[in-house]
Amino acid sequence: MATLTLLILSFLITLTTPSLLNASLASSSQTDNPSIPQTYIILVKPQNFNFTTQAARDNWYASFLPNKTINFIKSRLLRTYSDAISGFVANLTVQELHQVERHPSFLTAIPNRNLRLLTTHTPAYLGLYPSQGFWNLTASFGAGIIIGMLDSGIHASHPSFSHDQAMPDPPPQWKGICEFNYTGACNKKLIGARSHTLWKDLKSPDDLFGHGTHTSATAAGAFIPGANLLGSANGTAAGLAPLAHLAMYRVCETVMFCSTDAILAGLDSAINDGVHIISLSLGGPSYPFYEDVIAIGAFKAIKKGILVSCAAGNDGPFDTTVGNAAPWLLTVGASTTDRNVRATVKLGNGEELDGQSAYQPKRYNASSLLPLVKGSNNKDVTMYCLPETLQSINVRGKAVLCFGDNSEALDTGIVVKKAGGAAMIFANIIQNGYTTMAEPHVLPASHIDYNSGVQILSYVNSTANPTASIIFKGSIFGVTPAPTVASFSSRGPSYRTPGILKPDIIAPGVSVLAAWPFKVRSESNRLTNMNFNMISGTSMATPHLSGIAALLKSVHRDWSAAAIKSAIMTTADTIGNDGEPIKNELHEPASFFDFGAGQVNPLKAADPGLVYDLTVDEYTSYLCGLGYTNAEVEVITGTNVSCDEIKKISEAELNYPSILVIVPSEGIEVRRVVTNVGEASSCYKVKLEMPEDLEVGVEPEMLQFTKVGEKQGFTVRIKAKSSGLTNAQGSLKWVSDKRVVRSSVIVSTK
Ligand SMILES: *[C@@H]1O[C@H](CO)[C@@H](O)[C@H](O)[C@H]1NC(C)=O
Ligand SMILES: *[C@@H]1O[C@H](CO)[C@@H](O)[C@H](O)[C@H]1NC(C)=O
Ligand SMILES: *[C@@H]1O[C@H](CO)[C@@H](O)[C@H](O)[C@H]1NC(C)=O
Ligand SMILES: *[C@@H]1O[C@H](CO)[C@@H](O)[C@H](O)[C@H]1NC(C)=O
Ligand SMILES: *[C@@H]1O[C@H](CO)[C@@H](O)[C@H](O)[C@H]1NC(C)=O
Ligand SMILES: *[C@@H]1O[C@H](CO)[C@@H](O)[C@H](O)[C@H]1NC(C)=O
Ligand SMILES: *[C@@H]1O[C@H](CO)[C@@H](O)[C@H](O)[C@H]1NC(C)=O
Ligand SMILES: *[C@@H]1O[C@H](CO)[C@@H](O)[C@H](O)[C@H]1NC(C)=O
Ligand SMILES: *[C@@H]1O[C@H](CO)[C@@H](O)[C@H](O)[C@H]1NC(C)=O
Ligand SMILES: *[C@@H]1O[C@H](CO)[C@@H](O)[C@H](O)[C@H]1NC(C)=O
Repeated sequence: MATLTLLILSFLITLTTPSLLNASLASSSQTDNPSIPQTYIILVKPQNFNFTTQAARDNWYASFLPNKTINFIKSRLLRTYSDAISGFVANLTVQELHQVERHPSFLTAIPNRNLRLLTTHTPAYLGLYPSQGFWNLTASFGAGIIIGMLDSGIHASHPSFSHDQAMPDPPPQWKGICEFNYTGACNKKLIGARSHTLWKDLKSPDDLFGHGTHTSATAAGAFIPGANLLGSANGTAAGLAPLAHLAMYRVCETVMFCSTDAILAGLDSAINDGVHIISLSLGGPSYPFYEDVIAIGAFKAIKKGILVSCAAGNDGPFDTTVGNAAPWLLTVGASTTDRNVRATVKLGNGEELDGQSAYQPKRYNASSLLPLVKGSNNKDVTMYCLPETLQSINVRGKAVLCFGDNSEALDTGIVVKKAGGAAMIFANIIQNGYTTMAEPHVLPASHIDYNSGVQILSYVNSTANPTASIIFKGSIFGVTPAPTVASFSSRGPSYRTPGILKPDIIAPGVSVLAAWPFKVRSESNRLTNMNFNMISGTSMATPHLSGIAALLKSVHRDWSAAAIKSAIMTTADTIGNDGEPIKNELHEPASFFDFGAGQVNPLKAADPGLVYDLTVDEYTSYLCGLGYTNAEVEVITGTNVSCDEIKKISEAELNYPSILVIVPSEGIEVRRVVTNVGEASSCYKVKLEMPEDLEVGVEPEMLQFTKVGEKQGFTVRIKAKSSGLTNAQGSLKWVSDKRVVRSSVIVSTK
C-alpha cells in the first residue's frame, strides 16, 4: 500500500517568493532520519460502527498505534477526524509506521505536508447591483447560506463582518462554534470561527495576516459605503453574497504555512457544522488525488451537497500548472477587471504611457520632470533594481526604471525608496505582458506593462539626459480589453487528470479591494477600523465564486454541487468588453486552458436552463477509470470500493460541462446527459462552432423537455480531418429561445 507524505498548502496570493508548486521546496523540511518521529495522516477503512463519543473514536484510532501503553504515546495521536476522512494524525517513526500498516483496516499514510495561501468594484462589474437583476431581493443576496472559509483567520471587528443588522438568524441546523477569546466577535454575519492550527499560541481565529479577512469580505462582506485604499477606488464595498453567513476555519499558521492536517481538520469541522459552500484560497504542489487532502476531504463535502470552490494556483502563464483540479472541485482562475487606478508615465520627449498605482499622492508635481535612470546596468531585464545593484547607481532624487515579475512591484518600490529614489516606474517582465496591478506603493510609482517598459528603455537608451514624471489620474472604469486572463493564473491541462478541462472558470483576481485588518501605509493618525487593501491572486478570484455559488444555492436549495458548477460554467462569458474573444495577458486570444468555460456571469448562472449533473457513483467510476487501485479509490470516496464490480469510465465519459478529448483516426463518440432546470416545456437545438479541421455531429440535434428535472442524453461524434491536431477549440451550444447552454470543447489527435 502506498505510503504518502503531509504537505504544506499555501495561500494563492501572488507572493514575492519562489514558485508555490516547488515540491522540492515543500519537502525540504522533512527529515530523513528514520528514528525521528514524523507527522502522518493515517487513513483507515470506513467502519460499520458508529462512535457515540469523541473518546470512543480516539480510542479506536489509538488502537492502531504501537506502544500505546507507554506514557508519551497519547501525545502521538495528534487529532482524529469524523467527516472529512476515516482516520487520524500521529507522530510516528518509520518503524512505528510499519507497525501501523499491519493493521487490517489500514488504508494509507500521507506524510503531513505544507501548503501556502494563494471589492467595491467587482460585484458591479460582474453585473450585480442592489435591486437589479439577480442580486435583488428575489435572490435574497445569499440569505440562509453559510460559506465556510479555510484561511488565515478573520478580523472580526471589521465593519464588513461586525455590521450584521440586515442579517437573518443562522439556520437552525448550524452546529459551529466561536473560538474568539472575547464575547461579541461572532454575530449573525460571522456565525462561527475556529482555529485548527496546532501551535498553542496561534489557537485564535484572529487574522494576523489579512488574507482570510480579505477573502471572507469578498465572498460575503456586508455593504460598507466609503471603502477605499489611500483614497483610491472609493465606493461601496460588498461581498458577492452580502446576506450569506460566514464561518472561518483558521488552517494556516502563517501565509506560507498551512499544514495539510489542519486543512483536513478545517474540512472536517465545516462539513460537520453544516456549511453549504467551502472556499479554499490555498494550494501547493500537485499530487495524485489519493494523496491530495483537499481532493480527499472535499469528496466527502460533495457527498453532502456542499460545493467546494478552490484557487487554481498562481503559477501561470505556463502550461500544466493548474492545481486543485479534481473534477468534483470548482477550480478558479484569475482575470483582470475594467478598473485601473491610473498612474501615467510622462517622458521627457512628451510620450505618455498608462500604468497603475493605488497610491495617488496629491502633492506630487507632475509638471516637474525627474532625471530617469535604469535600476541596473545589467542587460537582462529580469535583474533590475536589486538592493545591491542600486548601490552602484546614483538613484537619489531620481525616477528609477525597474523590470520584474508583477508580484514584486510593491517590494521593489520599498527597495527603490530605501536607495533614495524619488519615484519608480515598474515594468513587467515579458511573460507578465499587460497584467499590471494597483498597489499601495511607498513612493510615487507606476506599474506599467512589458511593451511600455521596453519603450521607456529605448527612450533612456536614446538620449543623454532622460527625464520622466508620473501623472496620477485616479480610478478609470471601462478599460479595454477586459476581462483578460491574469499572467499569474495557473493554466491547464491538469497534470493529474489531463482529460478534464481545467481551470473551470475565471473571475476577478487582480487589484481586488476588500477588508483588511490593518491600516495600509497610514498617512493620517486617525484610528479607524475602516481598512481596505487591494491584493491580487487566484486567492482573490476564488471567494467571488464562493459568493456566487451561495447566491445560486439560496435560490436553488435542491441543486447538487455539480449542478451549481454546471450552471456557472455553461453560462460564462467568452467575449470581452471589446467585443472580441477574451484575451490572455499578452492580449492574444486566450486558450480554453487559460479560462476553462470563461468569465463567470452570475446573472446568467441563476437561470441556466439545462445542467450537466453528476453523482458520487459517477466520480467513483471515473476514479476507477483513472487506473487507481481499490484502496486508492477508497481513500478518496471513504467507502468500500471494488473497481472490478462497478463500471469504469474514461475522463471524457464523465458528464462534465466541458469536453476534452484525444481523437483516434477513426473518430470518437462522447455521451452527455442534461437535466432540465428551466421551464417544464422547453426545446433546445444544437449549435456547433467548431474549427474546420473537425467533423462534429450531435445526435439528436434537438432536445424537447416536458418536465422540470427531466434528463435527456445526446452523443457527440468527433472526427479529425487531418492528423497532428493539437488543442483545436470549439463550442457546443444548446440554444432555446431564451438561453444558450455552452460547453468548451478541446480536441487533439493521438
Ligand atoms: C525548486 O527549488 C529548488 C531549491 O529551492 C530550486 O533549485 C529549483 O530551481 C526550484 N524549481 C522550480 C521549478 O522553481
Ligand atoms: C510531531 O512532529 C512534528 C514534526 O515531525 C513536530 O514539529 C511536532 O512538535 C510533533 N508534535 C508532538 C506533539 O510531538
Ligand atoms: C468495508 O470492508 C471492511 C472489510 O474489508 C469491513 O470491515 C467494513 O465493515 C466495511 N465497511 C463498510 C462501511 O461496509
Ligand atoms: C450510523 O449512524 C448513521 C447516521 O446516524 C446511521 O444512518 C447508520 O445506520 C448508523 N450505522 C450503524 C451501523 O449503526
Ligand atoms: C516501542 O517503544 C520502545 C521503547 O520506547 C522502542 O524500543 C520500540 O522500538 C517501540 N516499538 C515500535 C514498534 O516502535
Ligand atoms: C428581481 O429579479 C427578478 C428575477 O430574478 C425580477 O423578476 C424582478 O423584477 C427583479 N426585481 C427588481 C426590483 O429588479
Ligand atoms: C486573545 O487573543 C489575542 C490573539 O488573537 C491575544 O493577543 C490576546 O492576548 C488574547 N486575550 C486574552 C484575554 O486571552
Ligand atoms: C468616498 O465617497 C464618499 C461618498 O461619496 C465620500 O463621503 C467620502 O468622502 C469619499 N472618501 C474619499 C476618501 O474620497
Ligand atoms: C511644478 O513644477 C514646475 C516645473 O518645475 C514648476 O514650474 C511649478 O511651479 C511647480 N508647481 C508647484 C505647485 O510647485
Ligand atoms: C538599451 O541598451 C542596452 C545596452 O545598454 C541594450 O542591451 C538594450 O537592448 C537596449 N534596449 C532598447 C529597448 O533599446
